[in-house]
Amino acid sequence: MTDADLLAEAEAARRQAYAPYSNFAVGAALLCEDGSVQPGCNVENASYPAGICAERNAVAAAVARGARRFVAIAVAGPAGVALGPCGICRQVLSEFSADGRLRVITRDKAGAPQVATIAALLPAAFGAADLGQGR
Ligand code: THU
Repeated sequence: MTDADLLAEAEAARRQAYAPYSNFAVGAALLCEDGSVQPGCNVENASYPAGICAERNAVAAAVARGARRFVAIAVAGPAGVALGPCGICRQVLSEFSADGRLRVITRDKAGAPQVATIAALLPAAFGAADLGQGR
């Protein structure tokens, strides 16, 4: 599965987005260590904070079917937008990438693929190890 393949899967998942409030459809494709690809899309709500991003939707669905080890996630938004996962999604992705090596694949404004590790997107992340130190 190439980065381009994973972006294509994210673009397909984007077609399922439910975003009647923002009209900003997002799709995600989460590549799991077992080779499976979990799609996700944003699902908004009339109570705006109840909406969920495409990335967290994909993570939750993968975990619900027993996949917890992830290699990469591609995220697709509208053409011409350089999309980056929101802070909450960075934190959630970080939960499942203790070594910070999860690759996050997006497109820049011109449509060229961009890759960053979750560690680069969320440096000094709060994680399970920090919990132990405060108790
Ligand atoms: N959104 C995502 O699903 N992923 C991102 O990476 C950025 C933002 C969603 C949340 C909301 O439904 C809409 O895009 C506008 O913020």
